Amino acid sequence: MGEFERLNSHVPHSFRVIALSLEDKIVFYPIGYVKTPNSGDEVKEKSVISQIILQPRLVEALDGIEGFSHLFVLFYLDKVPAEKNSVLKIHPKGRTDLPLMGVLGTRTMLRPNPIGLTLVKLLKVQDSVLTVQDLDAYDGTPVLDIKPYDPWDIAKDARVPAWWNKLYEGLK
Ligand SMILES: C[S@@+](CC[C@H](N)C(=O)[O-])C[C@H]1O[C@@H](n2cnc3c(N)ncnc32)[C@H](O)[C@@H]1O
Repeated sequence: MGEFERLNSHVPHSFRVIALSLEDKIVFYPIGYVKTPNSGDEVKEKSVISQIILQPRLVEALDGIEGFSHLFVLFYLDKVPAEKNSVLKIHPKGRTDLPLMGVLGTRTMLRPNPIGLTLVKLLKVQDSVLTVQDLDAYDGTPVLDIKPYDPWDIAKDARVPAWWNKLYEGLK
């Protein structure tokens, strides 16, 4: 019995069915790819304009999306070296003056599942091509999903830790 199964055996039976083994894999395919002339740090610029080239066979799945101004884009950070996915703690943006944080408490690209989530502005939809602004993904990045932004997603009482504000000091 593996460590996970041993721990799981202490979980009441009615809960156990939802517990996956840590060895389980979930396989996704890219619904499309990012196309951008920008590289390196350029992709972080808010003004950056990119395209999402959807697989042509999925084009009908875009019907109606043009009614939304903003979209969430989920993408696979495919250029993170595989060995970096086991990193558990980092200094945000590599800044040693900020606390050592668990990666899941940050927006680092070094994560157990290297998935990026970015809110973008939808500029244009033409056939299977979405033109978007502010997508911080490199050229060729596989896109896993696209969801319309719903104003209900706003958290009016959002708070962030003190170190988060330090990240942006001097930029405001
Ligand atoms: C820190 S990730 C965060 C993405 C998203 N905004 C989020 O919060 O999940 C964004 C950075 O990842 C890097 N990046 C972009 N595309 C990538 C890719 N396909 N593979 C690895 N790194 C990528 C770029 O340096 C970009 O600025």
